[in-house]
Amino acid sequence: MNFEQLFASRAHCMKTSAVREFFKLTEQPDVMSFAGGFPSADFFPMAKVREVMLELLDEEGKEALQYGATEGYGKLRRYVAEKMTREGAPCSEEQVVITNGSQQGMDLVSKLFVNPGDVVLVEEPGYVGGLGAIFNYEADRVPIPLDNDGIRIDVLTNRLRKLKMEGRTPKFIYLVPNFQNPSGICMSLERRRQVLELAREYNFLILEDNPYGELRYEGEPVASIKSLDSEGRVIYLGSFSKTFTPGIRVGWLAAAEEIVAKIISAKGSTDLCSNSLGQRLAYRFAADGYIDRHVATLLPRYRERRDLMLACMEEHFPEGVTWTQPQGGFFIWVSFPGGLTARQILLKAVERKVAFVDGDGFFVNDNGKHTARFSFSEASPEKIKRGIAILGEIIAAELAANNIKTA
Ligand SMILES: Cc1ncc(COP(=O)(O)O)c(C=O)c1O
Repeated sequence: MNFEQLFASRAHCMKTSAVREFFKLTEQPDVMSFAGGFPSADFFPMAKVREVMLELLDEEGKEALQYGATEGYGKLRRYVAEKMTREGAPCSEEQVVITNGSQQGMDLVSKLFVNPGDVVLVEEPGYVGGLGAIFNYEADRVPIPLDNDGIRIDVLTNRLRKLKMEGRTPKFIYLVPNFQNPSGICMSLERRRQVLELAREYNFLILEDNPYGELRYEGEPVASIKSLDSEGRVIYLGSFSKTFTPGIRVGWLAAAEEIVAKIISAKGSTDLCSNSLGQRLAYRFAADGYIDRHVATLLPRYRERRDLMLACMEEHFPEGVTWTQPQGGFFIWVSFPGGLTARQILLKAVERKVAFVDGDGFFVNDNGKHTARFSFSEASPEKIKRGIAILGEIIAAELAANNIKTA
């Protein structure tokens, strides 16, 4: 059958993520993989989950295995509203929807706001899952580059002026301000204020995605854009995936009530409700402070891996290779010198059982060829040491073979 002629026009925007395809390759146990952006399963609180899950089934098993309200489990919504309020972004229960991970929030927001051809501003490089969700609704994604302080305000301002001259207003800008996936960069407070100011001036929304904010290994937390916003211009996405476990698929969206009401309608036709069992489990873990205590135990463990990977890069990567210094999250962003492509290094690396993700997939256009994302969250210290040393040899050999001088 020819399905092509039956697909809706948006189906042509739905691409298999190269990153996701690549994960399959890296799942073999002897591979030194820095490719996946998953939390370390070794850090999941297994014994405690078993204990709380049994309690949950004994005490409210019927409700936990039943459908629930589309907007989410009431106690968890209240918990999230209080958490947001405590963290400086006052929020009521009615302004919160529990989602199947923050990923669903990106889909629902795109579903609600994007008509085919609408402009959505995105970070470059940007999170693959966000870029994909936005593109699935046929948005015209306009990429804005980052520097070490986050999105470039000069470029953003110029782009907005140009768009205005063309009579186009972006619907929203999609941002991951804390320890961004893939760059690891944390947006400065100044930039957060400036983006909000531009959003006011040009009248677009901000979609703030913050799954990594609590995983800060050094430095002071920076206020969320949501906490700086007094008019409901920011739609905020939170998640329990990185602070607890992603398998339960529990995240949230916090926004103005008018937006939340529409999101609930959109969500109802997508999934009826989020995972009842997962939401109640997340609530039990969150409400008595367990998740906060768990995060406190994660920080030194992830910090150790970050420090080790950075030190190994310093020791083994040849001159000319540059990388970011993330203060939190899971990712280091690497740039290769002299026209060397990440793909050519990756092909050699895979032969020696080392993997990372080449940068292309994080770009709207073809600008990522000389960049790569390295994740330090999952690999053991031994694999980090061996893998980065092997990569150092491969990069040096490729530089020599291509006669690229970097010193
Ligand atoms: C920036 C970003 N947003 C959202 C997600 C998805 O998170 P969740 O498990 O909450 O859907 C990820 C997962 O890697 C991510 O890196």
